[in-house]
Amino acid sequence: MADMLVRLYALPERGPSRLAPDVRIRRALAAERRVVIAWIEERFGAGWAGEAETAFSSTPARIHIAHDRDRILGFACHDVTALGFFGPTGVEAAMRGKGIGEALLIESLLSMRAAGYAYAIIGGVGPATFYARAVGAVEIAGSTPGIYAGMLFPGDLASGT
Ligand SMILES: CC(C)(COP(=O)(O)OP(=O)(O)OC[C@H]1O[C@@H](n2cnc3c(N)ncnc32)[C@H](O)[C@@H]1OP(=O)(O)O)[C@@H](O)C(=O)NCCC(=O)NCCS
Repeated sequence: MADMLVRLYALPERGPSRLAPDVRIRRALAAERRVVIAWIEERFGAGWAGEAETAFSSTPARIHIAHDRDRILGFACHDVTALGFFGPTGVEAAMRGKGIGEALLIESLLSMRAAGYAYAIIGGVGPATFYARAVGAVEIAGSTPGIYAGMLFPGDLASGT
């Protein structure tokens, strides 16, 4: 589980959206905190739910969600694990492969770029090919286990991968 580096100043141009017409990607609101956290914990475990709680501790929240009306489809956090880090992120298992994960990733990275970062780090990557193809991310040498070294219950952080 290495970290990966993304050049925010060289993000690929956005092509036409692959999302279904009713799918929205946006920052989560504080009022949605409890339902979003419960959704994450049920699907991805306590570690990611804890990180997402941290994302809700600022305004605006450092978490984007994908939803279709009242149905949550996915989430992506940034500036949570450490400053400048993207993640965790996850998409409802039945909804994967429809462009939602990539749209959440790009929206989060654009927010980080707007906040002044030149680079983003994707922490403890599972699907490296996904990040390499979507945003040109490259592995950071010597970054395993990186900042996660010695963490309590590390299995919790790998629950979605
Ligand atoms: C990784 C994840 C967020 C991707 O979300 P998604 O909605 O399925 O991704 P998209 O549909 O936007 O996929 C974009 C592209 O990446 C590819 N891709 C998606 N998941 C991939 C994976 N795990 N490995 C390699 N490629 C992947 C897709 O095939 C697609 O390619 P295409 O453009 O040629 O069709 C989702 O699979 C997930 O929730 N996984 C479990 C949690 C996880 O691993 N989170 C990341 C931890 S670092």
